[in-house]
Amino acid sequence: MTKYDFDRVLDRRNTHSYKWDQAEKLFGSKDILPLWVADMDFESPPAVKETLVRRAEHGIYGYCVPSGSYIESITGWFQRRHDWEISKEWIAQSPGIVTTLSLAVELFSEPGAEVILQSPVYYPFYDVIKMNDRKVADNPLILRNGRYEMDYEQLEGLMKGGAKLLLLCSPHNPGGRVWEREELLRLGELCLQYGVIVVSDEIHCDLALPGHKHIPFASLSKELSDITLMALAPTKTFNLPGIHSSFIVASNPEIKRKFETRIKALSLHMASFFAQDAVEAAYNEGAEWLDELITYIDGNIGYTISYLAEHLPQVKPMKPEATYLLWIDCRELGLNGAGLKKLMYEEAGVAFNEGSVYGSEGEGYLRINMACPRSILQKALERFCAAAAAYPAQ
Ligand SMILES: Cc1ncc(COP(=O)(O)O)c(C=O)c1O
Repeated sequence: MTKYDFDRVLDRRNTHSYKWDQAEKLFGSKDILPLWVADMDFESPPAVKETLVRRAEHGIYGYCVPSGSYIESITGWFQRRHDWEISKEWIAQSPGIVTTLSLAVELFSEPGAEVILQSPVYYPFYDVIKMNDRKVADNPLILRNGRYEMDYEQLEGLMKGGAKLLLLCSPHNPGGRVWEREELLRLGELCLQYGVIVVSDEIHCDLALPGHKHIPFASLSKELSDITLMALAPTKTFNLPGIHSSFIVASNPEIKRKFETRIKALSLHMASFFAQDAVEAAYNEGAEWLDELITYIDGNIGYTISYLAEHLPQVKPMKPEATYLLWIDCRELGLNGAGLKKLMYEEAGVAFNEGSVYGSEGEGYLRINMACPRSILQKALERFCAAAAAYPAQ
């Protein structure tokens, strides 16, 4: 028996939803089913909603300080869920992961310097490097036996060439790799050898799928922890991204001090009236909900993989090890980026993410958000497969 009803369809239209209320503006029709931007069409855990309602009822929305119990909810969660002991002195606040990535690029590399990423990757990784006037040093992932692996030789070459900062995406988006201990250690050894600082974006850390275990990069060893800035948030896990709450963990006091000083200089350090209580409720009371969510998402992924195998065998989904995002190789459809967009928006009436935004390796791929009730997913897949079958290759 399950306790939470992830099949329930909630109407998100007219809620200023980035995903649901922009269909006409972005894709040309309000009837488009949006399975793109990475938030979920599920309610957050009940404890979060109850806490927010209680908080809103107070009626005075003044300035807030971070509370001790909020910090303890973070340390407790990572200890219970990831076997990782975080000292509360290592934690500093940030409004969001992308803000953290951008500040880290600014603080820990010089203008014009190379910053490493591993493509295809979540597209703001490129933006935070380029918009801070740094250069992207790309270490493209290798596609081997249907899953991505890191290219250590090329990585070492980039480090030898002088790159001193690496943006790690762990688990990886898109593709959903949960990096294994040996892979992370090998990456870490290179970083130690060449004096590279690691910024590890682990926003998807709680969404490892059955059979996979996420390992926080900084939990590998003290040495690695001390060269790492961990960018963390409960926002993907518990569907709170509109609440803007994130934090960093840095055991190296110099990294933490630099980051916190910059956050204060930008006046981004004040606790949000709503966020910290929501986060505390989620971390303290959301574990059971999360376990059921993961089972549901895993079911959606299995359903989609079977559906595609039966109805559109030319496309090849990459079975994710984490995240609610399914990365699909559609190259056999013979369509370029514009063709895939036309197929989705004009012919099928669905909006998935078009792969090339994650880097040139993503050309011909689509990314589908699996975090929606099965009935919505089913409708989107029916529409997409029927349209693709009738659509001529270019
Ligand atoms: C890897 C990754 N990092 C960061 C974010 C966004 O984080 P934030 O909204 O806290 O800036 C996302 C959202 O999809 C993501 O997939």
